[in-house]
Amino acid sequence: MPTHPNLEQFKEAAARAAAERVQSGMIIGLGSGTTAAHVTRALGERVKRGLKIVGVPTSNQTSKLAGELGIPISNLEEHDAIDLTIDGADEVEMGTLHLIKGHGGALLREKIVAHASKRLLIVVDETKLVGRLGIRESLPVEVIPFGWRIVARQLEHMGAKAALRRDAAGQPFLSDGGHYIVDCTFPGIAAPSELSGKLDRIVGIVEHGLFLGMTAEVIIGGAGGVTSIQRENFQARI
Ligand code: A5P
Repeated sequence: MPTHPNLEQFKEAAARAAAERVQSGMIIGLGSGTTAAHVTRALGERVKRGLKIVGVPTSNQTSKLAGELGIPISNLEEHDAIDLTIDGADEVEMGTLHLIKGHGGALLREKIVAHASKRLLIVVDETKLVGRLGIRESLPVEVIPFGWRIVARQLEHMGAKAALRRDAAGQPFLSDGGHYIVDCTFPGIAAPSELSGKLDRIVGIVEHGLFLGMTAEVIIGGAGGVTSIQRENFQARI
């Protein structure tokens, strides 16, 4: 897919708008990936100007970046209730705001932190908006290395083209949790809840990149500026 020349500007503009939602005193879930890194950098600037927050990072990479920027960081042992998590996504389904996440390899911690959050705010550039999940991106599935081929075979029986993710050296990519990721290409995901339920029942799958019913709001950067979509009837968890 050709990359848009202004993509980084779109992501950064949306990230800056999202970072403005953060108020002093909040516990903030810090997402992973290139868009979330823009958010972390914008928060770092605000922290230098006096914003008082504690960040709970969703990956080792985000933890390192936040530390370098002087953002106080903590974890779910110390803070198990997060006020707001701001993260990126690989696809956002318009209408439902269901997501595919995990192309950066951090989906497990991202999902755990999102579940512990009162609100999940997603930041994307406009190319991530889709009418149906799975039409643009594969679905990352995090698996235990032991017996991964058996899991991959089951995923293929479910209609996916399953490929083990590899690093630049050609070795299996390892998540922060030491798991493999199998990227599953579906010809569009017509029934995400059904697929999610089936994946949840396969032994050897740790987690998958379908984030359903979790998003409160999406902030979108695009050629027309920054816009947002709120999920109707969203009730913040307390
Ligand atoms: C990380 O595991 C992912 O879930 C990211 O949030 C997602 O891949 C989006 O990443 P980019 O912002 O780099 O596109």
